[in-house]
Amino acid sequence: MSSDVATEVKRRRTFAIISHPDAGKSTMTEALALHARMISEAGAIHGKAGRKSTVSDWMEMEKARGISVSSTALQFNYLAEHSEPGIPSVINLVDTPGHADFSEDTYRVLTAVDAAVMLIDAAKGLEPQTLKLFQVCRHRGIPVITVINKWDRPGQTPLELIDEISERIGLTPTPLFFPVGIAGDFRGLLDRRTGEYVHFTRTAGGAKIAPEEIMSADDAAAREGDEWTAAVEESELLSEMGQDHDQEMFLAGQTSPMIFASAMLNFGVRQLLEVLVELAPPPAGRVDIEGNERPVTDPFSAVVFKVQAGMDSSHRDRLAYMRIVSGEFERGMVVTHAQTGKPFATKYAQAVFGRDRSTVDTAYPGDVVGLVNATALAPGDTLFDGPKVQFPPIPSFAPEHFSTLRATTADKYKQFRKAMDQLDSEGVVQVLRNDTRGDMSPVLAAVGPMQFEVVTARMKAEFNVDTIIEPLGYTLARRTDAESAPELDRQRGVEVFTRTDGAVLALFSDKWRLQYIEKEHPDLTLQPLVAAA
Ligand code: G4P
Repeated sequence: MSSDVATEVKRRRTFAIISHPDAGKSTMTEALALHARMISEAGAIHGKAGRKSTVSDWMEMEKARGISVSSTALQFNYLAEHSEPGIPSVINLVDTPGHADFSEDTYRVLTAVDAAVMLIDAAKGLEPQTLKLFQVCRHRGIPVITVINKWDRPGQTPLELIDEISERIGLTPTPLFFPVGIAGDFRGLLDRRTGEYVHFTRTAGGAKIAPEEIMSADDAAAREGDEWTAAVEESELLSEMGQDHDQEMFLAGQTSPMIFASAMLNFGVRQLLEVLVELAPPPAGRVDIEGNERPVTDPFSAVVFKVQAGMDSSHRDRLAYMRIVSGEFERGMVVTHAQTGKPFATKYAQAVFGRDRSTVDTAYPGDVVGLVNATALAPGDTLFDGPKVQFPPIPSFAPEHFSTLRATTADKYKQFRKAMDQLDSEGVVQVLRNDTRGDMSPVLAAVGPMQFEVVTARMKAEFNVDTIIEPLGYTLARRTDAESAPELDRQRGVEVFTRTDGAVLALFSDKWRLQYIEKEHPDLTLQPLVAAA
């Protein structure tokens, strides 16, 4: 079996797209699927009118084309130049919830991928949500491929974008495909490694795969004139500055292969797929809490990275998504839940990928599978078969929104406590407490405000407790310790809490308050919380 697993692992690539809303993530997702020839016309789904959310787009895609889709992971096969001859690569694209539902889940998804595609709008450059997600990738050592999207529209120059990325986040872009034609006049791509020109032809509405013509530098010069010369000169300049692709530096998170593209016109999309297959790492083993590695060919193991509960019904519709770390998953297996030691039957597990959800039975490292009836599972939990393994918990991420939660009536004390414990253990929000506020008025900390809405809705639906959320005047948190806590508590605009996992957090009204206190009391422990491992 393990040689099968090794073969399956080798051909898999699991990644997420990190971007700011509107950079083109949905359009790119669809374009990638189009290139994998799963969809014949992107326009069939991505209509001009009535755009839907990514989730429903994907579901529509699944219905319309029978491709393997879920709201969380899209899987497709793609036979790339660097795939084993005749054996398509298997691409898993894990969705990062974004937009209004930006939440801790958005970050947690990044624990389930082996690479990220940072999608940037050519006119806007780096935007806040992209930066936040990038920091998590950096912290977790996830290699990043950069795609400059919307090159068909006016935007910044390539060198401006490259400088911005190098300077603001210390990641050195190493373009593999450099644009020919300024932003707004996208003619094609210079393949910097071969020196060839990939000329694109527009299709009506970008609905079909854009026909490509590969030509030599001489032919390109004759065809594109100054635009070609400019691209070649800038590319040479980049080489002189050492900005050529280096696989080790990419895997170490120091450099980022870069592609210029137009998801809408399907320009550069094939190149992205090729780069993913050629350069992104296949699924690898993972180190457990004891520091031992679970190699991919070991018996089955997986990490739960997201739990989704219906807002309006019982526990039964709770779906846990796991990423397989090792071995072969077969539906129906009884596996062990490492946190409780209890068996977990996957008889009713839904493989959330596959043409027909009910007939896909096996999955391999890198794949994402949804488990129904997953009441006992929380993000970060481990499932395994064979030798016991438990992977480290998913870190909690730096919250930026803080609110108090209280019940509208005092008689629901027990239910309130129970509900809080449940939602806390599921990782829906971070729960902070201190003696001053007491148990019935905990402070909830979240990465995105949507998380609070989920709490109040579930409090009502599942525990029948009406609650009120009241925003608190804090905007940032730092990790501190018991020694520093009393001094911090004496400061204006600061409050100290203990999180359920035992971490001591100080909340600050604003960054100036924090800076002032850091200056006045340099001896206090105040550490940033970004994706603390
Ligand atoms: P998101 O998921 O990252 O939020 O972005 P989405 O794909 O929804 O794209 C946001 C807008 O940007 C859409 O326009 C989309 O058509 C457009 N877009 C995406 N990629 C490209 C590109 O390569 N070039 C150009 N010119 N536009 C692009 P919209 O007006 O909001 O929707 P629609 O009217 O196009 O459907």
